[in-house]
Amino acid sequence: MLFLSNVVRRRTTCRVEVVRPVVAEAVGRLGTEGAFAVLARARTLEASGRDVIHLEIGEPDFETPTHVAEAGIAAIRAGETHYCQTAGLPVLREAAAASLSRSHGLAIAAEDVLVANGAKPFLFFTVLATCGPADEVVYPDPGFPIYESAVRFAGAEPVPLPLREERGFSFDPAELEQLLTERTRLVILNAPQNPTGGVIPGDDLERAAAAIRRTPAWVLSDEVYRRITYDVDAPSIAAVPGMLERSVVLDGFSKTFAMTGWRLGYAAVPAELVDPLVRLIVNSTSCVPPFAQLAGVAALEGPQDAVTSMVAELRRRRDYLVPALNAIPGVRCIEPGGAFYAFPNVAELPLPADELADRLLDEAGVALLPGSSFGRHGADHLRISYASSLANLEEAIERIHRFVDGL
Ligand SMILES: Cc1ncc(COP(=O)(O)O)c(C=O)c1O
Repeated sequence: MLFLSNVVRRRTTCRVEVVRPVVAEAVGRLGTEGAFAVLARARTLEASGRDVIHLEIGEPDFETPTHVAEAGIAAIRAGETHYCQTAGLPVLREAAAASLSRSHGLAIAAEDVLVANGAKPFLFFTVLATCGPADEVVYPDPGFPIYESAVRFAGAEPVPLPLREERGFSFDPAELEQLLTERTRLVILNAPQNPTGGVIPGDDLERAAAAIRRTPAWVLSDEVYRRITYDVDAPSIAAVPGMLERSVVLDGFSKTFAMTGWRLGYAAVPAELVDPLVRLIVNSTSCVPPFAQLAGVAALEGPQDAVTSMVAELRRRRDYLVPALNAIPGVRCIEPGGAFYAFPNVAELPLPADELADRLLDEAGVALLPGSSFGRHGADHLRISYASSLANLEEAIERIHRFVDGL
């Protein structure tokens, strides 16, 4: 015994090579969300006593409607706190299928609707379920940064589709046609759009659909802002005949019902993608908490007046913000048709937009995002979330105006 332990000790002191564990290469390909990074910086400034107006994060500053929260609480009290079906509770899949069928004028079956922890997992999982190395994914630029991140993680090639300010931040269908190849596996569209508030005209969707149908591409139509529009329609490509069969139609509760923290989203999914997506969900999160899903049923099937009044209030803010931005010399902002973001062009100011965003936070106490957080084509812009009170917006405009005057 004594002899053996001596050997072991001698080995460990003289011969052992230390091998360092390493992080997987794929993780290095993941991007991030600028909004969370700026929020962290703003919080640090606040901790040191500075006053910061938050226009960086994309979440409604409204409470979850009371009847929805109460449904969730009642479900917890009723013991709905265990594992449940990975695809989602049948009652929520039915409610979501009915909601999507009504709004899109389509017949969407409950078995083609899946539920996940927010809309975000569907972005990631749809990319993983449809793309691999050497495949191409066309996605909007500027666009929600998770699209490009997921594509890079899958080892596929991200192909940015420029959004054109002169087209109300929609894409040019001729440009889309040129970007499609036989390697395109997925086309991601988003309307109303983050970060620009743009919507896609119906005619452009028809042209896009005709071009996509000539390729083997699936479509991911991210419609999480579909209920937040101001006097304009935000049509869905899935409603173009023949497109539902190849489209993942994505919606959620975060924006429409101010439920960002409930982590609840759903999607209508082509039949061939149901099983792959269910596998990705069961391998990652198993299921969405049933009490959150039952709150979701109350949101979809209960009174909708909270949504109506939220959209009316967001419109009031937009109607203040856009002219106020345009009144600042060197700033040009088109009117967003939906969502709750303004995307002013600041190319005429003497500072690049990235530096402007940094200095507005550090020197003026206004947290917002540089357009470059959303891709190369956003570089001359700022993104301002107007999911913040009118009083905050007024104070922010005053600070921005003063800062720009001082340049
Ligand atoms: C365009 C877009 N899609 C998806 C999401 C994710 O939403 P959820 O909170 O439902 O995951 C967001 C959130 O900001 C978004 O802006």
